[in-house]
Amino acid sequence: MDVAIIGGGIAGLTTAWLLKRAGKKVAVLEMHRILSGQTGQTTAHLTELLDTPYTTLIQDFGDKGAHLAASSSRAAIEQIASLVESLSIDCGFSRVPAFKYARTDRELRDLVLEVSAARQVGLLASFTKDVPLPFPVKGALRVEDQALFHPREYLLALADAIPGDGCHLFENTKVVEVHDGAPCRVVTERGTVTAQAVVEATTTPLNRVAMHTKLYAYRTYAVAGPLEGPLEAGQYYDSQEPYHYIRTQQVDGVPYVIVGGEDHKVGAEEDTASRFTALEDYAVRHLPVKRLTHRWSGQIIEPADGLPFIGRNVGRRHVYVATGFSGTGMTFGTLAGMVVSDLILGNEDPYAALYAPGRVKPKASAKDFIQENADVAFRFVADRLARPDGHHLADVAPGEGKILEVEGHKVAVYREDDGTAHAVSPVCTHLGCHVHWNNAERSWDCPCHGGRFSPTGRVLNGPALKDLPSRKLPVK
Ligand code: FES
Repeated sequence: MDVAIIGGGIAGLTTAWLLKRAGKKVAVLEMHRILSGQTGQTTAHLTELLDTPYTTLIQDFGDKGAHLAASSSRAAIEQIASLVESLSIDCGFSRVPAFKYARTDRELRDLVLEVSAARQVGLLASFTKDVPLPFPVKGALRVEDQALFHPREYLLALADAIPGDGCHLFENTKVVEVHDGAPCRVVTERGTVTAQAVVEATTTPLNRVAMHTKLYAYRTYAVAGPLEGPLEAGQYYDSQEPYHYIRTQQVDGVPYVIVGGEDHKVGAEEDTASRFTALEDYAVRHLPVKRLTHRWSGQIIEPADGLPFIGRNVGRRHVYVATGFSGTGMTFGTLAGMVVSDLILGNEDPYAALYAPGRVKPKASAKDFIQENADVAFRFVADRLARPDGHHLADVAPGEGKILEVEGHKVAVYREDDGTAHAVSPVCTHLGCHVHWNNAERSWDCPCHGGRFSPTGRVLNGPALKDLPSRKLPVK
């Protein structure tokens, strides 16, 4: 095999397709079903409006770096447009404007600066007071030629095109070890794949430490419902904290609105379900929607200096990573496929240096780096010393998960709706922090680097590779 690609989301599938198109033999290894990871939770904005403002990118990466960030995002949107056309993919790809709007004078002052930074780096950006939203705003940064699509329809078509000509797509194939070398060895629960190169397209890298001090995991939420009044197709972002966004979507000819945001650090919210309530309130108060028929949440990985890490992993010869996409996973996931496939093929890539995982941008990352890693160190110690939620099975209601202390040891106990109980170790198999219960998703989430486990301890997403071991249930 030429390349083993771990992860069947947008970054993995795009990398696989671009390498296959160039004549390489690839194998995609997906732990569950394809698109079941963070790609399956996306709200799919294809945009040059990145989570890090262009005023900040110019300051931290210089005019040239900020230009490249903008032009690479544009290139990713055009890559999707070209694949939609060349593979005749019916995924509702459409060009729409994006608006970042201000509701207060203070937000407006920052926004005016951002308009001029966006224009400076080459976006088709302007300031407007004419924002097609059904509530008053002070003004907005408007960017032309952004895009919406149905990510699942697009990616299923891409996945269909991968098997054949020596290429494979393996689902339900969990990777347990990755060995760099010539060749590399990827050990899965179903056998070992040898390859000249390995790509970890796994939201967050699988290695033990190297990148994780520069990556911070956040939960994000979305709700959707049928529109009961007009809302112009587009992408809309507010400037608040926690922030919200709005986008339109046609579903079987019915116009829907999707509202997302209310992000928080993994493990930092006791009642994750309350974030859905907050989003639903926001949607009903601001938009012509009465019934929110869908809700889901996902995980985003924030990079320390504001841009993703894409390229050969630090200290590795043939292992590549693609991570830290913030809230722009579809755009950066596509870009990751472009950059990593260029690097593996030995092509000159205009964006590779900007996104190199080994780059050092102390000015850009220092504040968050210190704060976020202090938080990890705090969690590592504090959660071990924290008082348990109880001592008895009776302290855990059906449908809940709690940390109990039994015979001097902490156990993570979950009870199904019918009362059946499961007990696992609360110690995350990545680097040993204690997991927290996520009541909205019914999962055990690790606050340190975002590892997630099912109620019975199965790995849902990395960086952890091993399940949480079972523990003896408390007697009563
Ligand atoms: S300790 Fe790193 S994800 Fe849990």
